[in-house]
Order: sequence, then C-alpha cells, then structure tokens
Amino acid sequence: MKLYNELAEWWPWMSPHTEYEEEASLYLEIIQRYHPNVKRGVEFGAGGGSNAFYLKKHFSMVLSDLSPKMLDVSRQLNPDCKHIQGDMRTISAGSAFDLVFIHDAITYFTEEADLLAVMKNAKTHLNENGILFIMTDQFKETFRPETSHGGIDKDGRGFRYLEWTDDSDPEDCVTETEYLYMMKSEEGEIFRESDSSRSGLFSMAIWEKLLASAGFKATFERIHYTTETGIYYGIVAEQLSAE
Ligand SMILES: C[S@@+](CC[C@H](N)C(=O)[O-])C[C@H]1O[C@@H](n2cnc3c(N)ncnc32)[C@H](O)[C@@H]1O
Repeated sequence: MKLYNELAEWWPWMSPHTEYEEEASLYLEIIQRYHPNVKRGVEFGAGGGSNAFYLKKHFSMVLSDLSPKMLDVSRQLNPDCKHIQGDMRTISAGSAFDLVFIHDAITYFTEEADLLAVMKNAKTHLNENGILFIMTDQFKETFRPETSHGGIDKDGRGFRYLEWTDDSDPEDCVTETEYLYMMKSEEGEIFRESDSSRSGLFSMAIWEKLLASAGFKATFERIHYTTETGIYYGIVAEQLSAE
C-alpha cells in the first residue's frame, strides 16, 4: 500500500499513537493474564509502533516490519526499541521471547499457507513458556462491511481519510478495502491520493486449525473497545507441549 511506503510519513497524522492507548491496555491485560511474567516481547508488522509505545512500558519490545519507511516512523516514537526490517513469514528477530505480538498486520494475508508460515515462524521466536497474541481485524463469523474516517491536524499539516471495507464475494476468504486520502502541507497545499488493499477473512475454526498445525492451542478472547461497535476477538496461542 502507498500508506506504508511513499505516504508513510503521514502515518502519525492518519493514525496517531494516542488513539491506541485503550486498545494497548486491553491487550496488556489479556497478555499478562496468560503470561504474568513477560519480560521480552517482539512484534511482527509493528508499523508505526503505536501499540508498542504503550506495551514497552511493561516489558522490552523488539519491533519488526516489512516497510523500512514505517520502521522510520516507529523509530521516531520508540527510539529506545530495537527495530528490524523483514517479512513476518521469514524474519529472524532473535529467540527466547516471552511474547510474539501481531496486531492488524496479519490481516493482509489472504492464504492459509501464509498464516501458517507466520505462526511457525512465531514459534521459533518463543521460549518454552512464551505465548503468541494475535489481534487480526476480522473473522468470517463477525465480519460486517464498514466505512470509517479519521485523521488529524498537527504541526501545521493535516490528513483526512475515508476507508470502505466490503466483501465482494462471500464465498471466498478475501475482503476489499478502498481508501481516499486528503493531505494538507505546511504551505496549505492540498494533495489527494487513493489506495486499496485486500485482507484475509477466515473462520475461527480455520485459525484454530492452523495454530494447532503450528503447535499452538488457541483461545479467543472478546475485546470490548469503548470506541468501536463491531465484535472483536484476540487470539491467545499457547504452545502445546511436545509429547
Ligand atoms: C496498520 S500497520 C500496523 C500498525 C501498528 N499496529 C501500530 O500499532 O502502529 C500494518 C503494517 O503491516 C506491515 N506489513 C504488511 N505485510 C507485512 C509482512 N508480510 N511482514 C511484516 N509486516 C507487514 C506494513 O508494512 C504496515 O506497517
């Protein structure tokens, strides 16, 4: 997407980190319930590092992402964290972590084989008691077409967007999202851009099956955001002990 590449510098105007404070605290509560002693975490697809900004107050976080430009944005917000560039299916960001956290970035995979590769790679990053926590945006059971908008003014610049997610073929495992962006420079000049993305739409049973193939037991935890009306679940994946 343009947003994670040539437009990445606008990310803090589109999705300011202050909007993540509530969700990060909800994720933290779940993470610490399943693993009260997390000391070292790694995030795959950390993007602008907004959740990490809050999580790192409780344990160390290594941040990884496919996009070098998004890593630059995160470095501004999280100069105290190690950053590593790479694809979450194959990246090697170290080992013996207590936590692998994957937020909405995993939603971009539309093939089961890619999800399985991510889960298997996450396992190689964990120590014996480590957990994987996944916050995918959507499940087959709970998906609803959605339109949203947002953006802020800051430091003399402005950004506004309109985002429309639909499911053109309910028989497949893909949803489509269209974006319109409007940007105002410090000189008051207006730019307009559009973007599109495809996201995976899998049932909870598929997530459970794939996680079991990768050596995890999945538990779905309902998330109640005060700002969202949709139905959201996080997936806590605990490692199955070797027989
Ligand atoms: C919506 S942003 C993540 C924002 C992040 N949750 C935060 O707290 O700021 C999605 C990110 O996923 C990354 N991404 C997409 N595909 C990826 C992949 N295969 N491996 C690693 N990162 C990926 C993109 O580069 C982008 O930075």
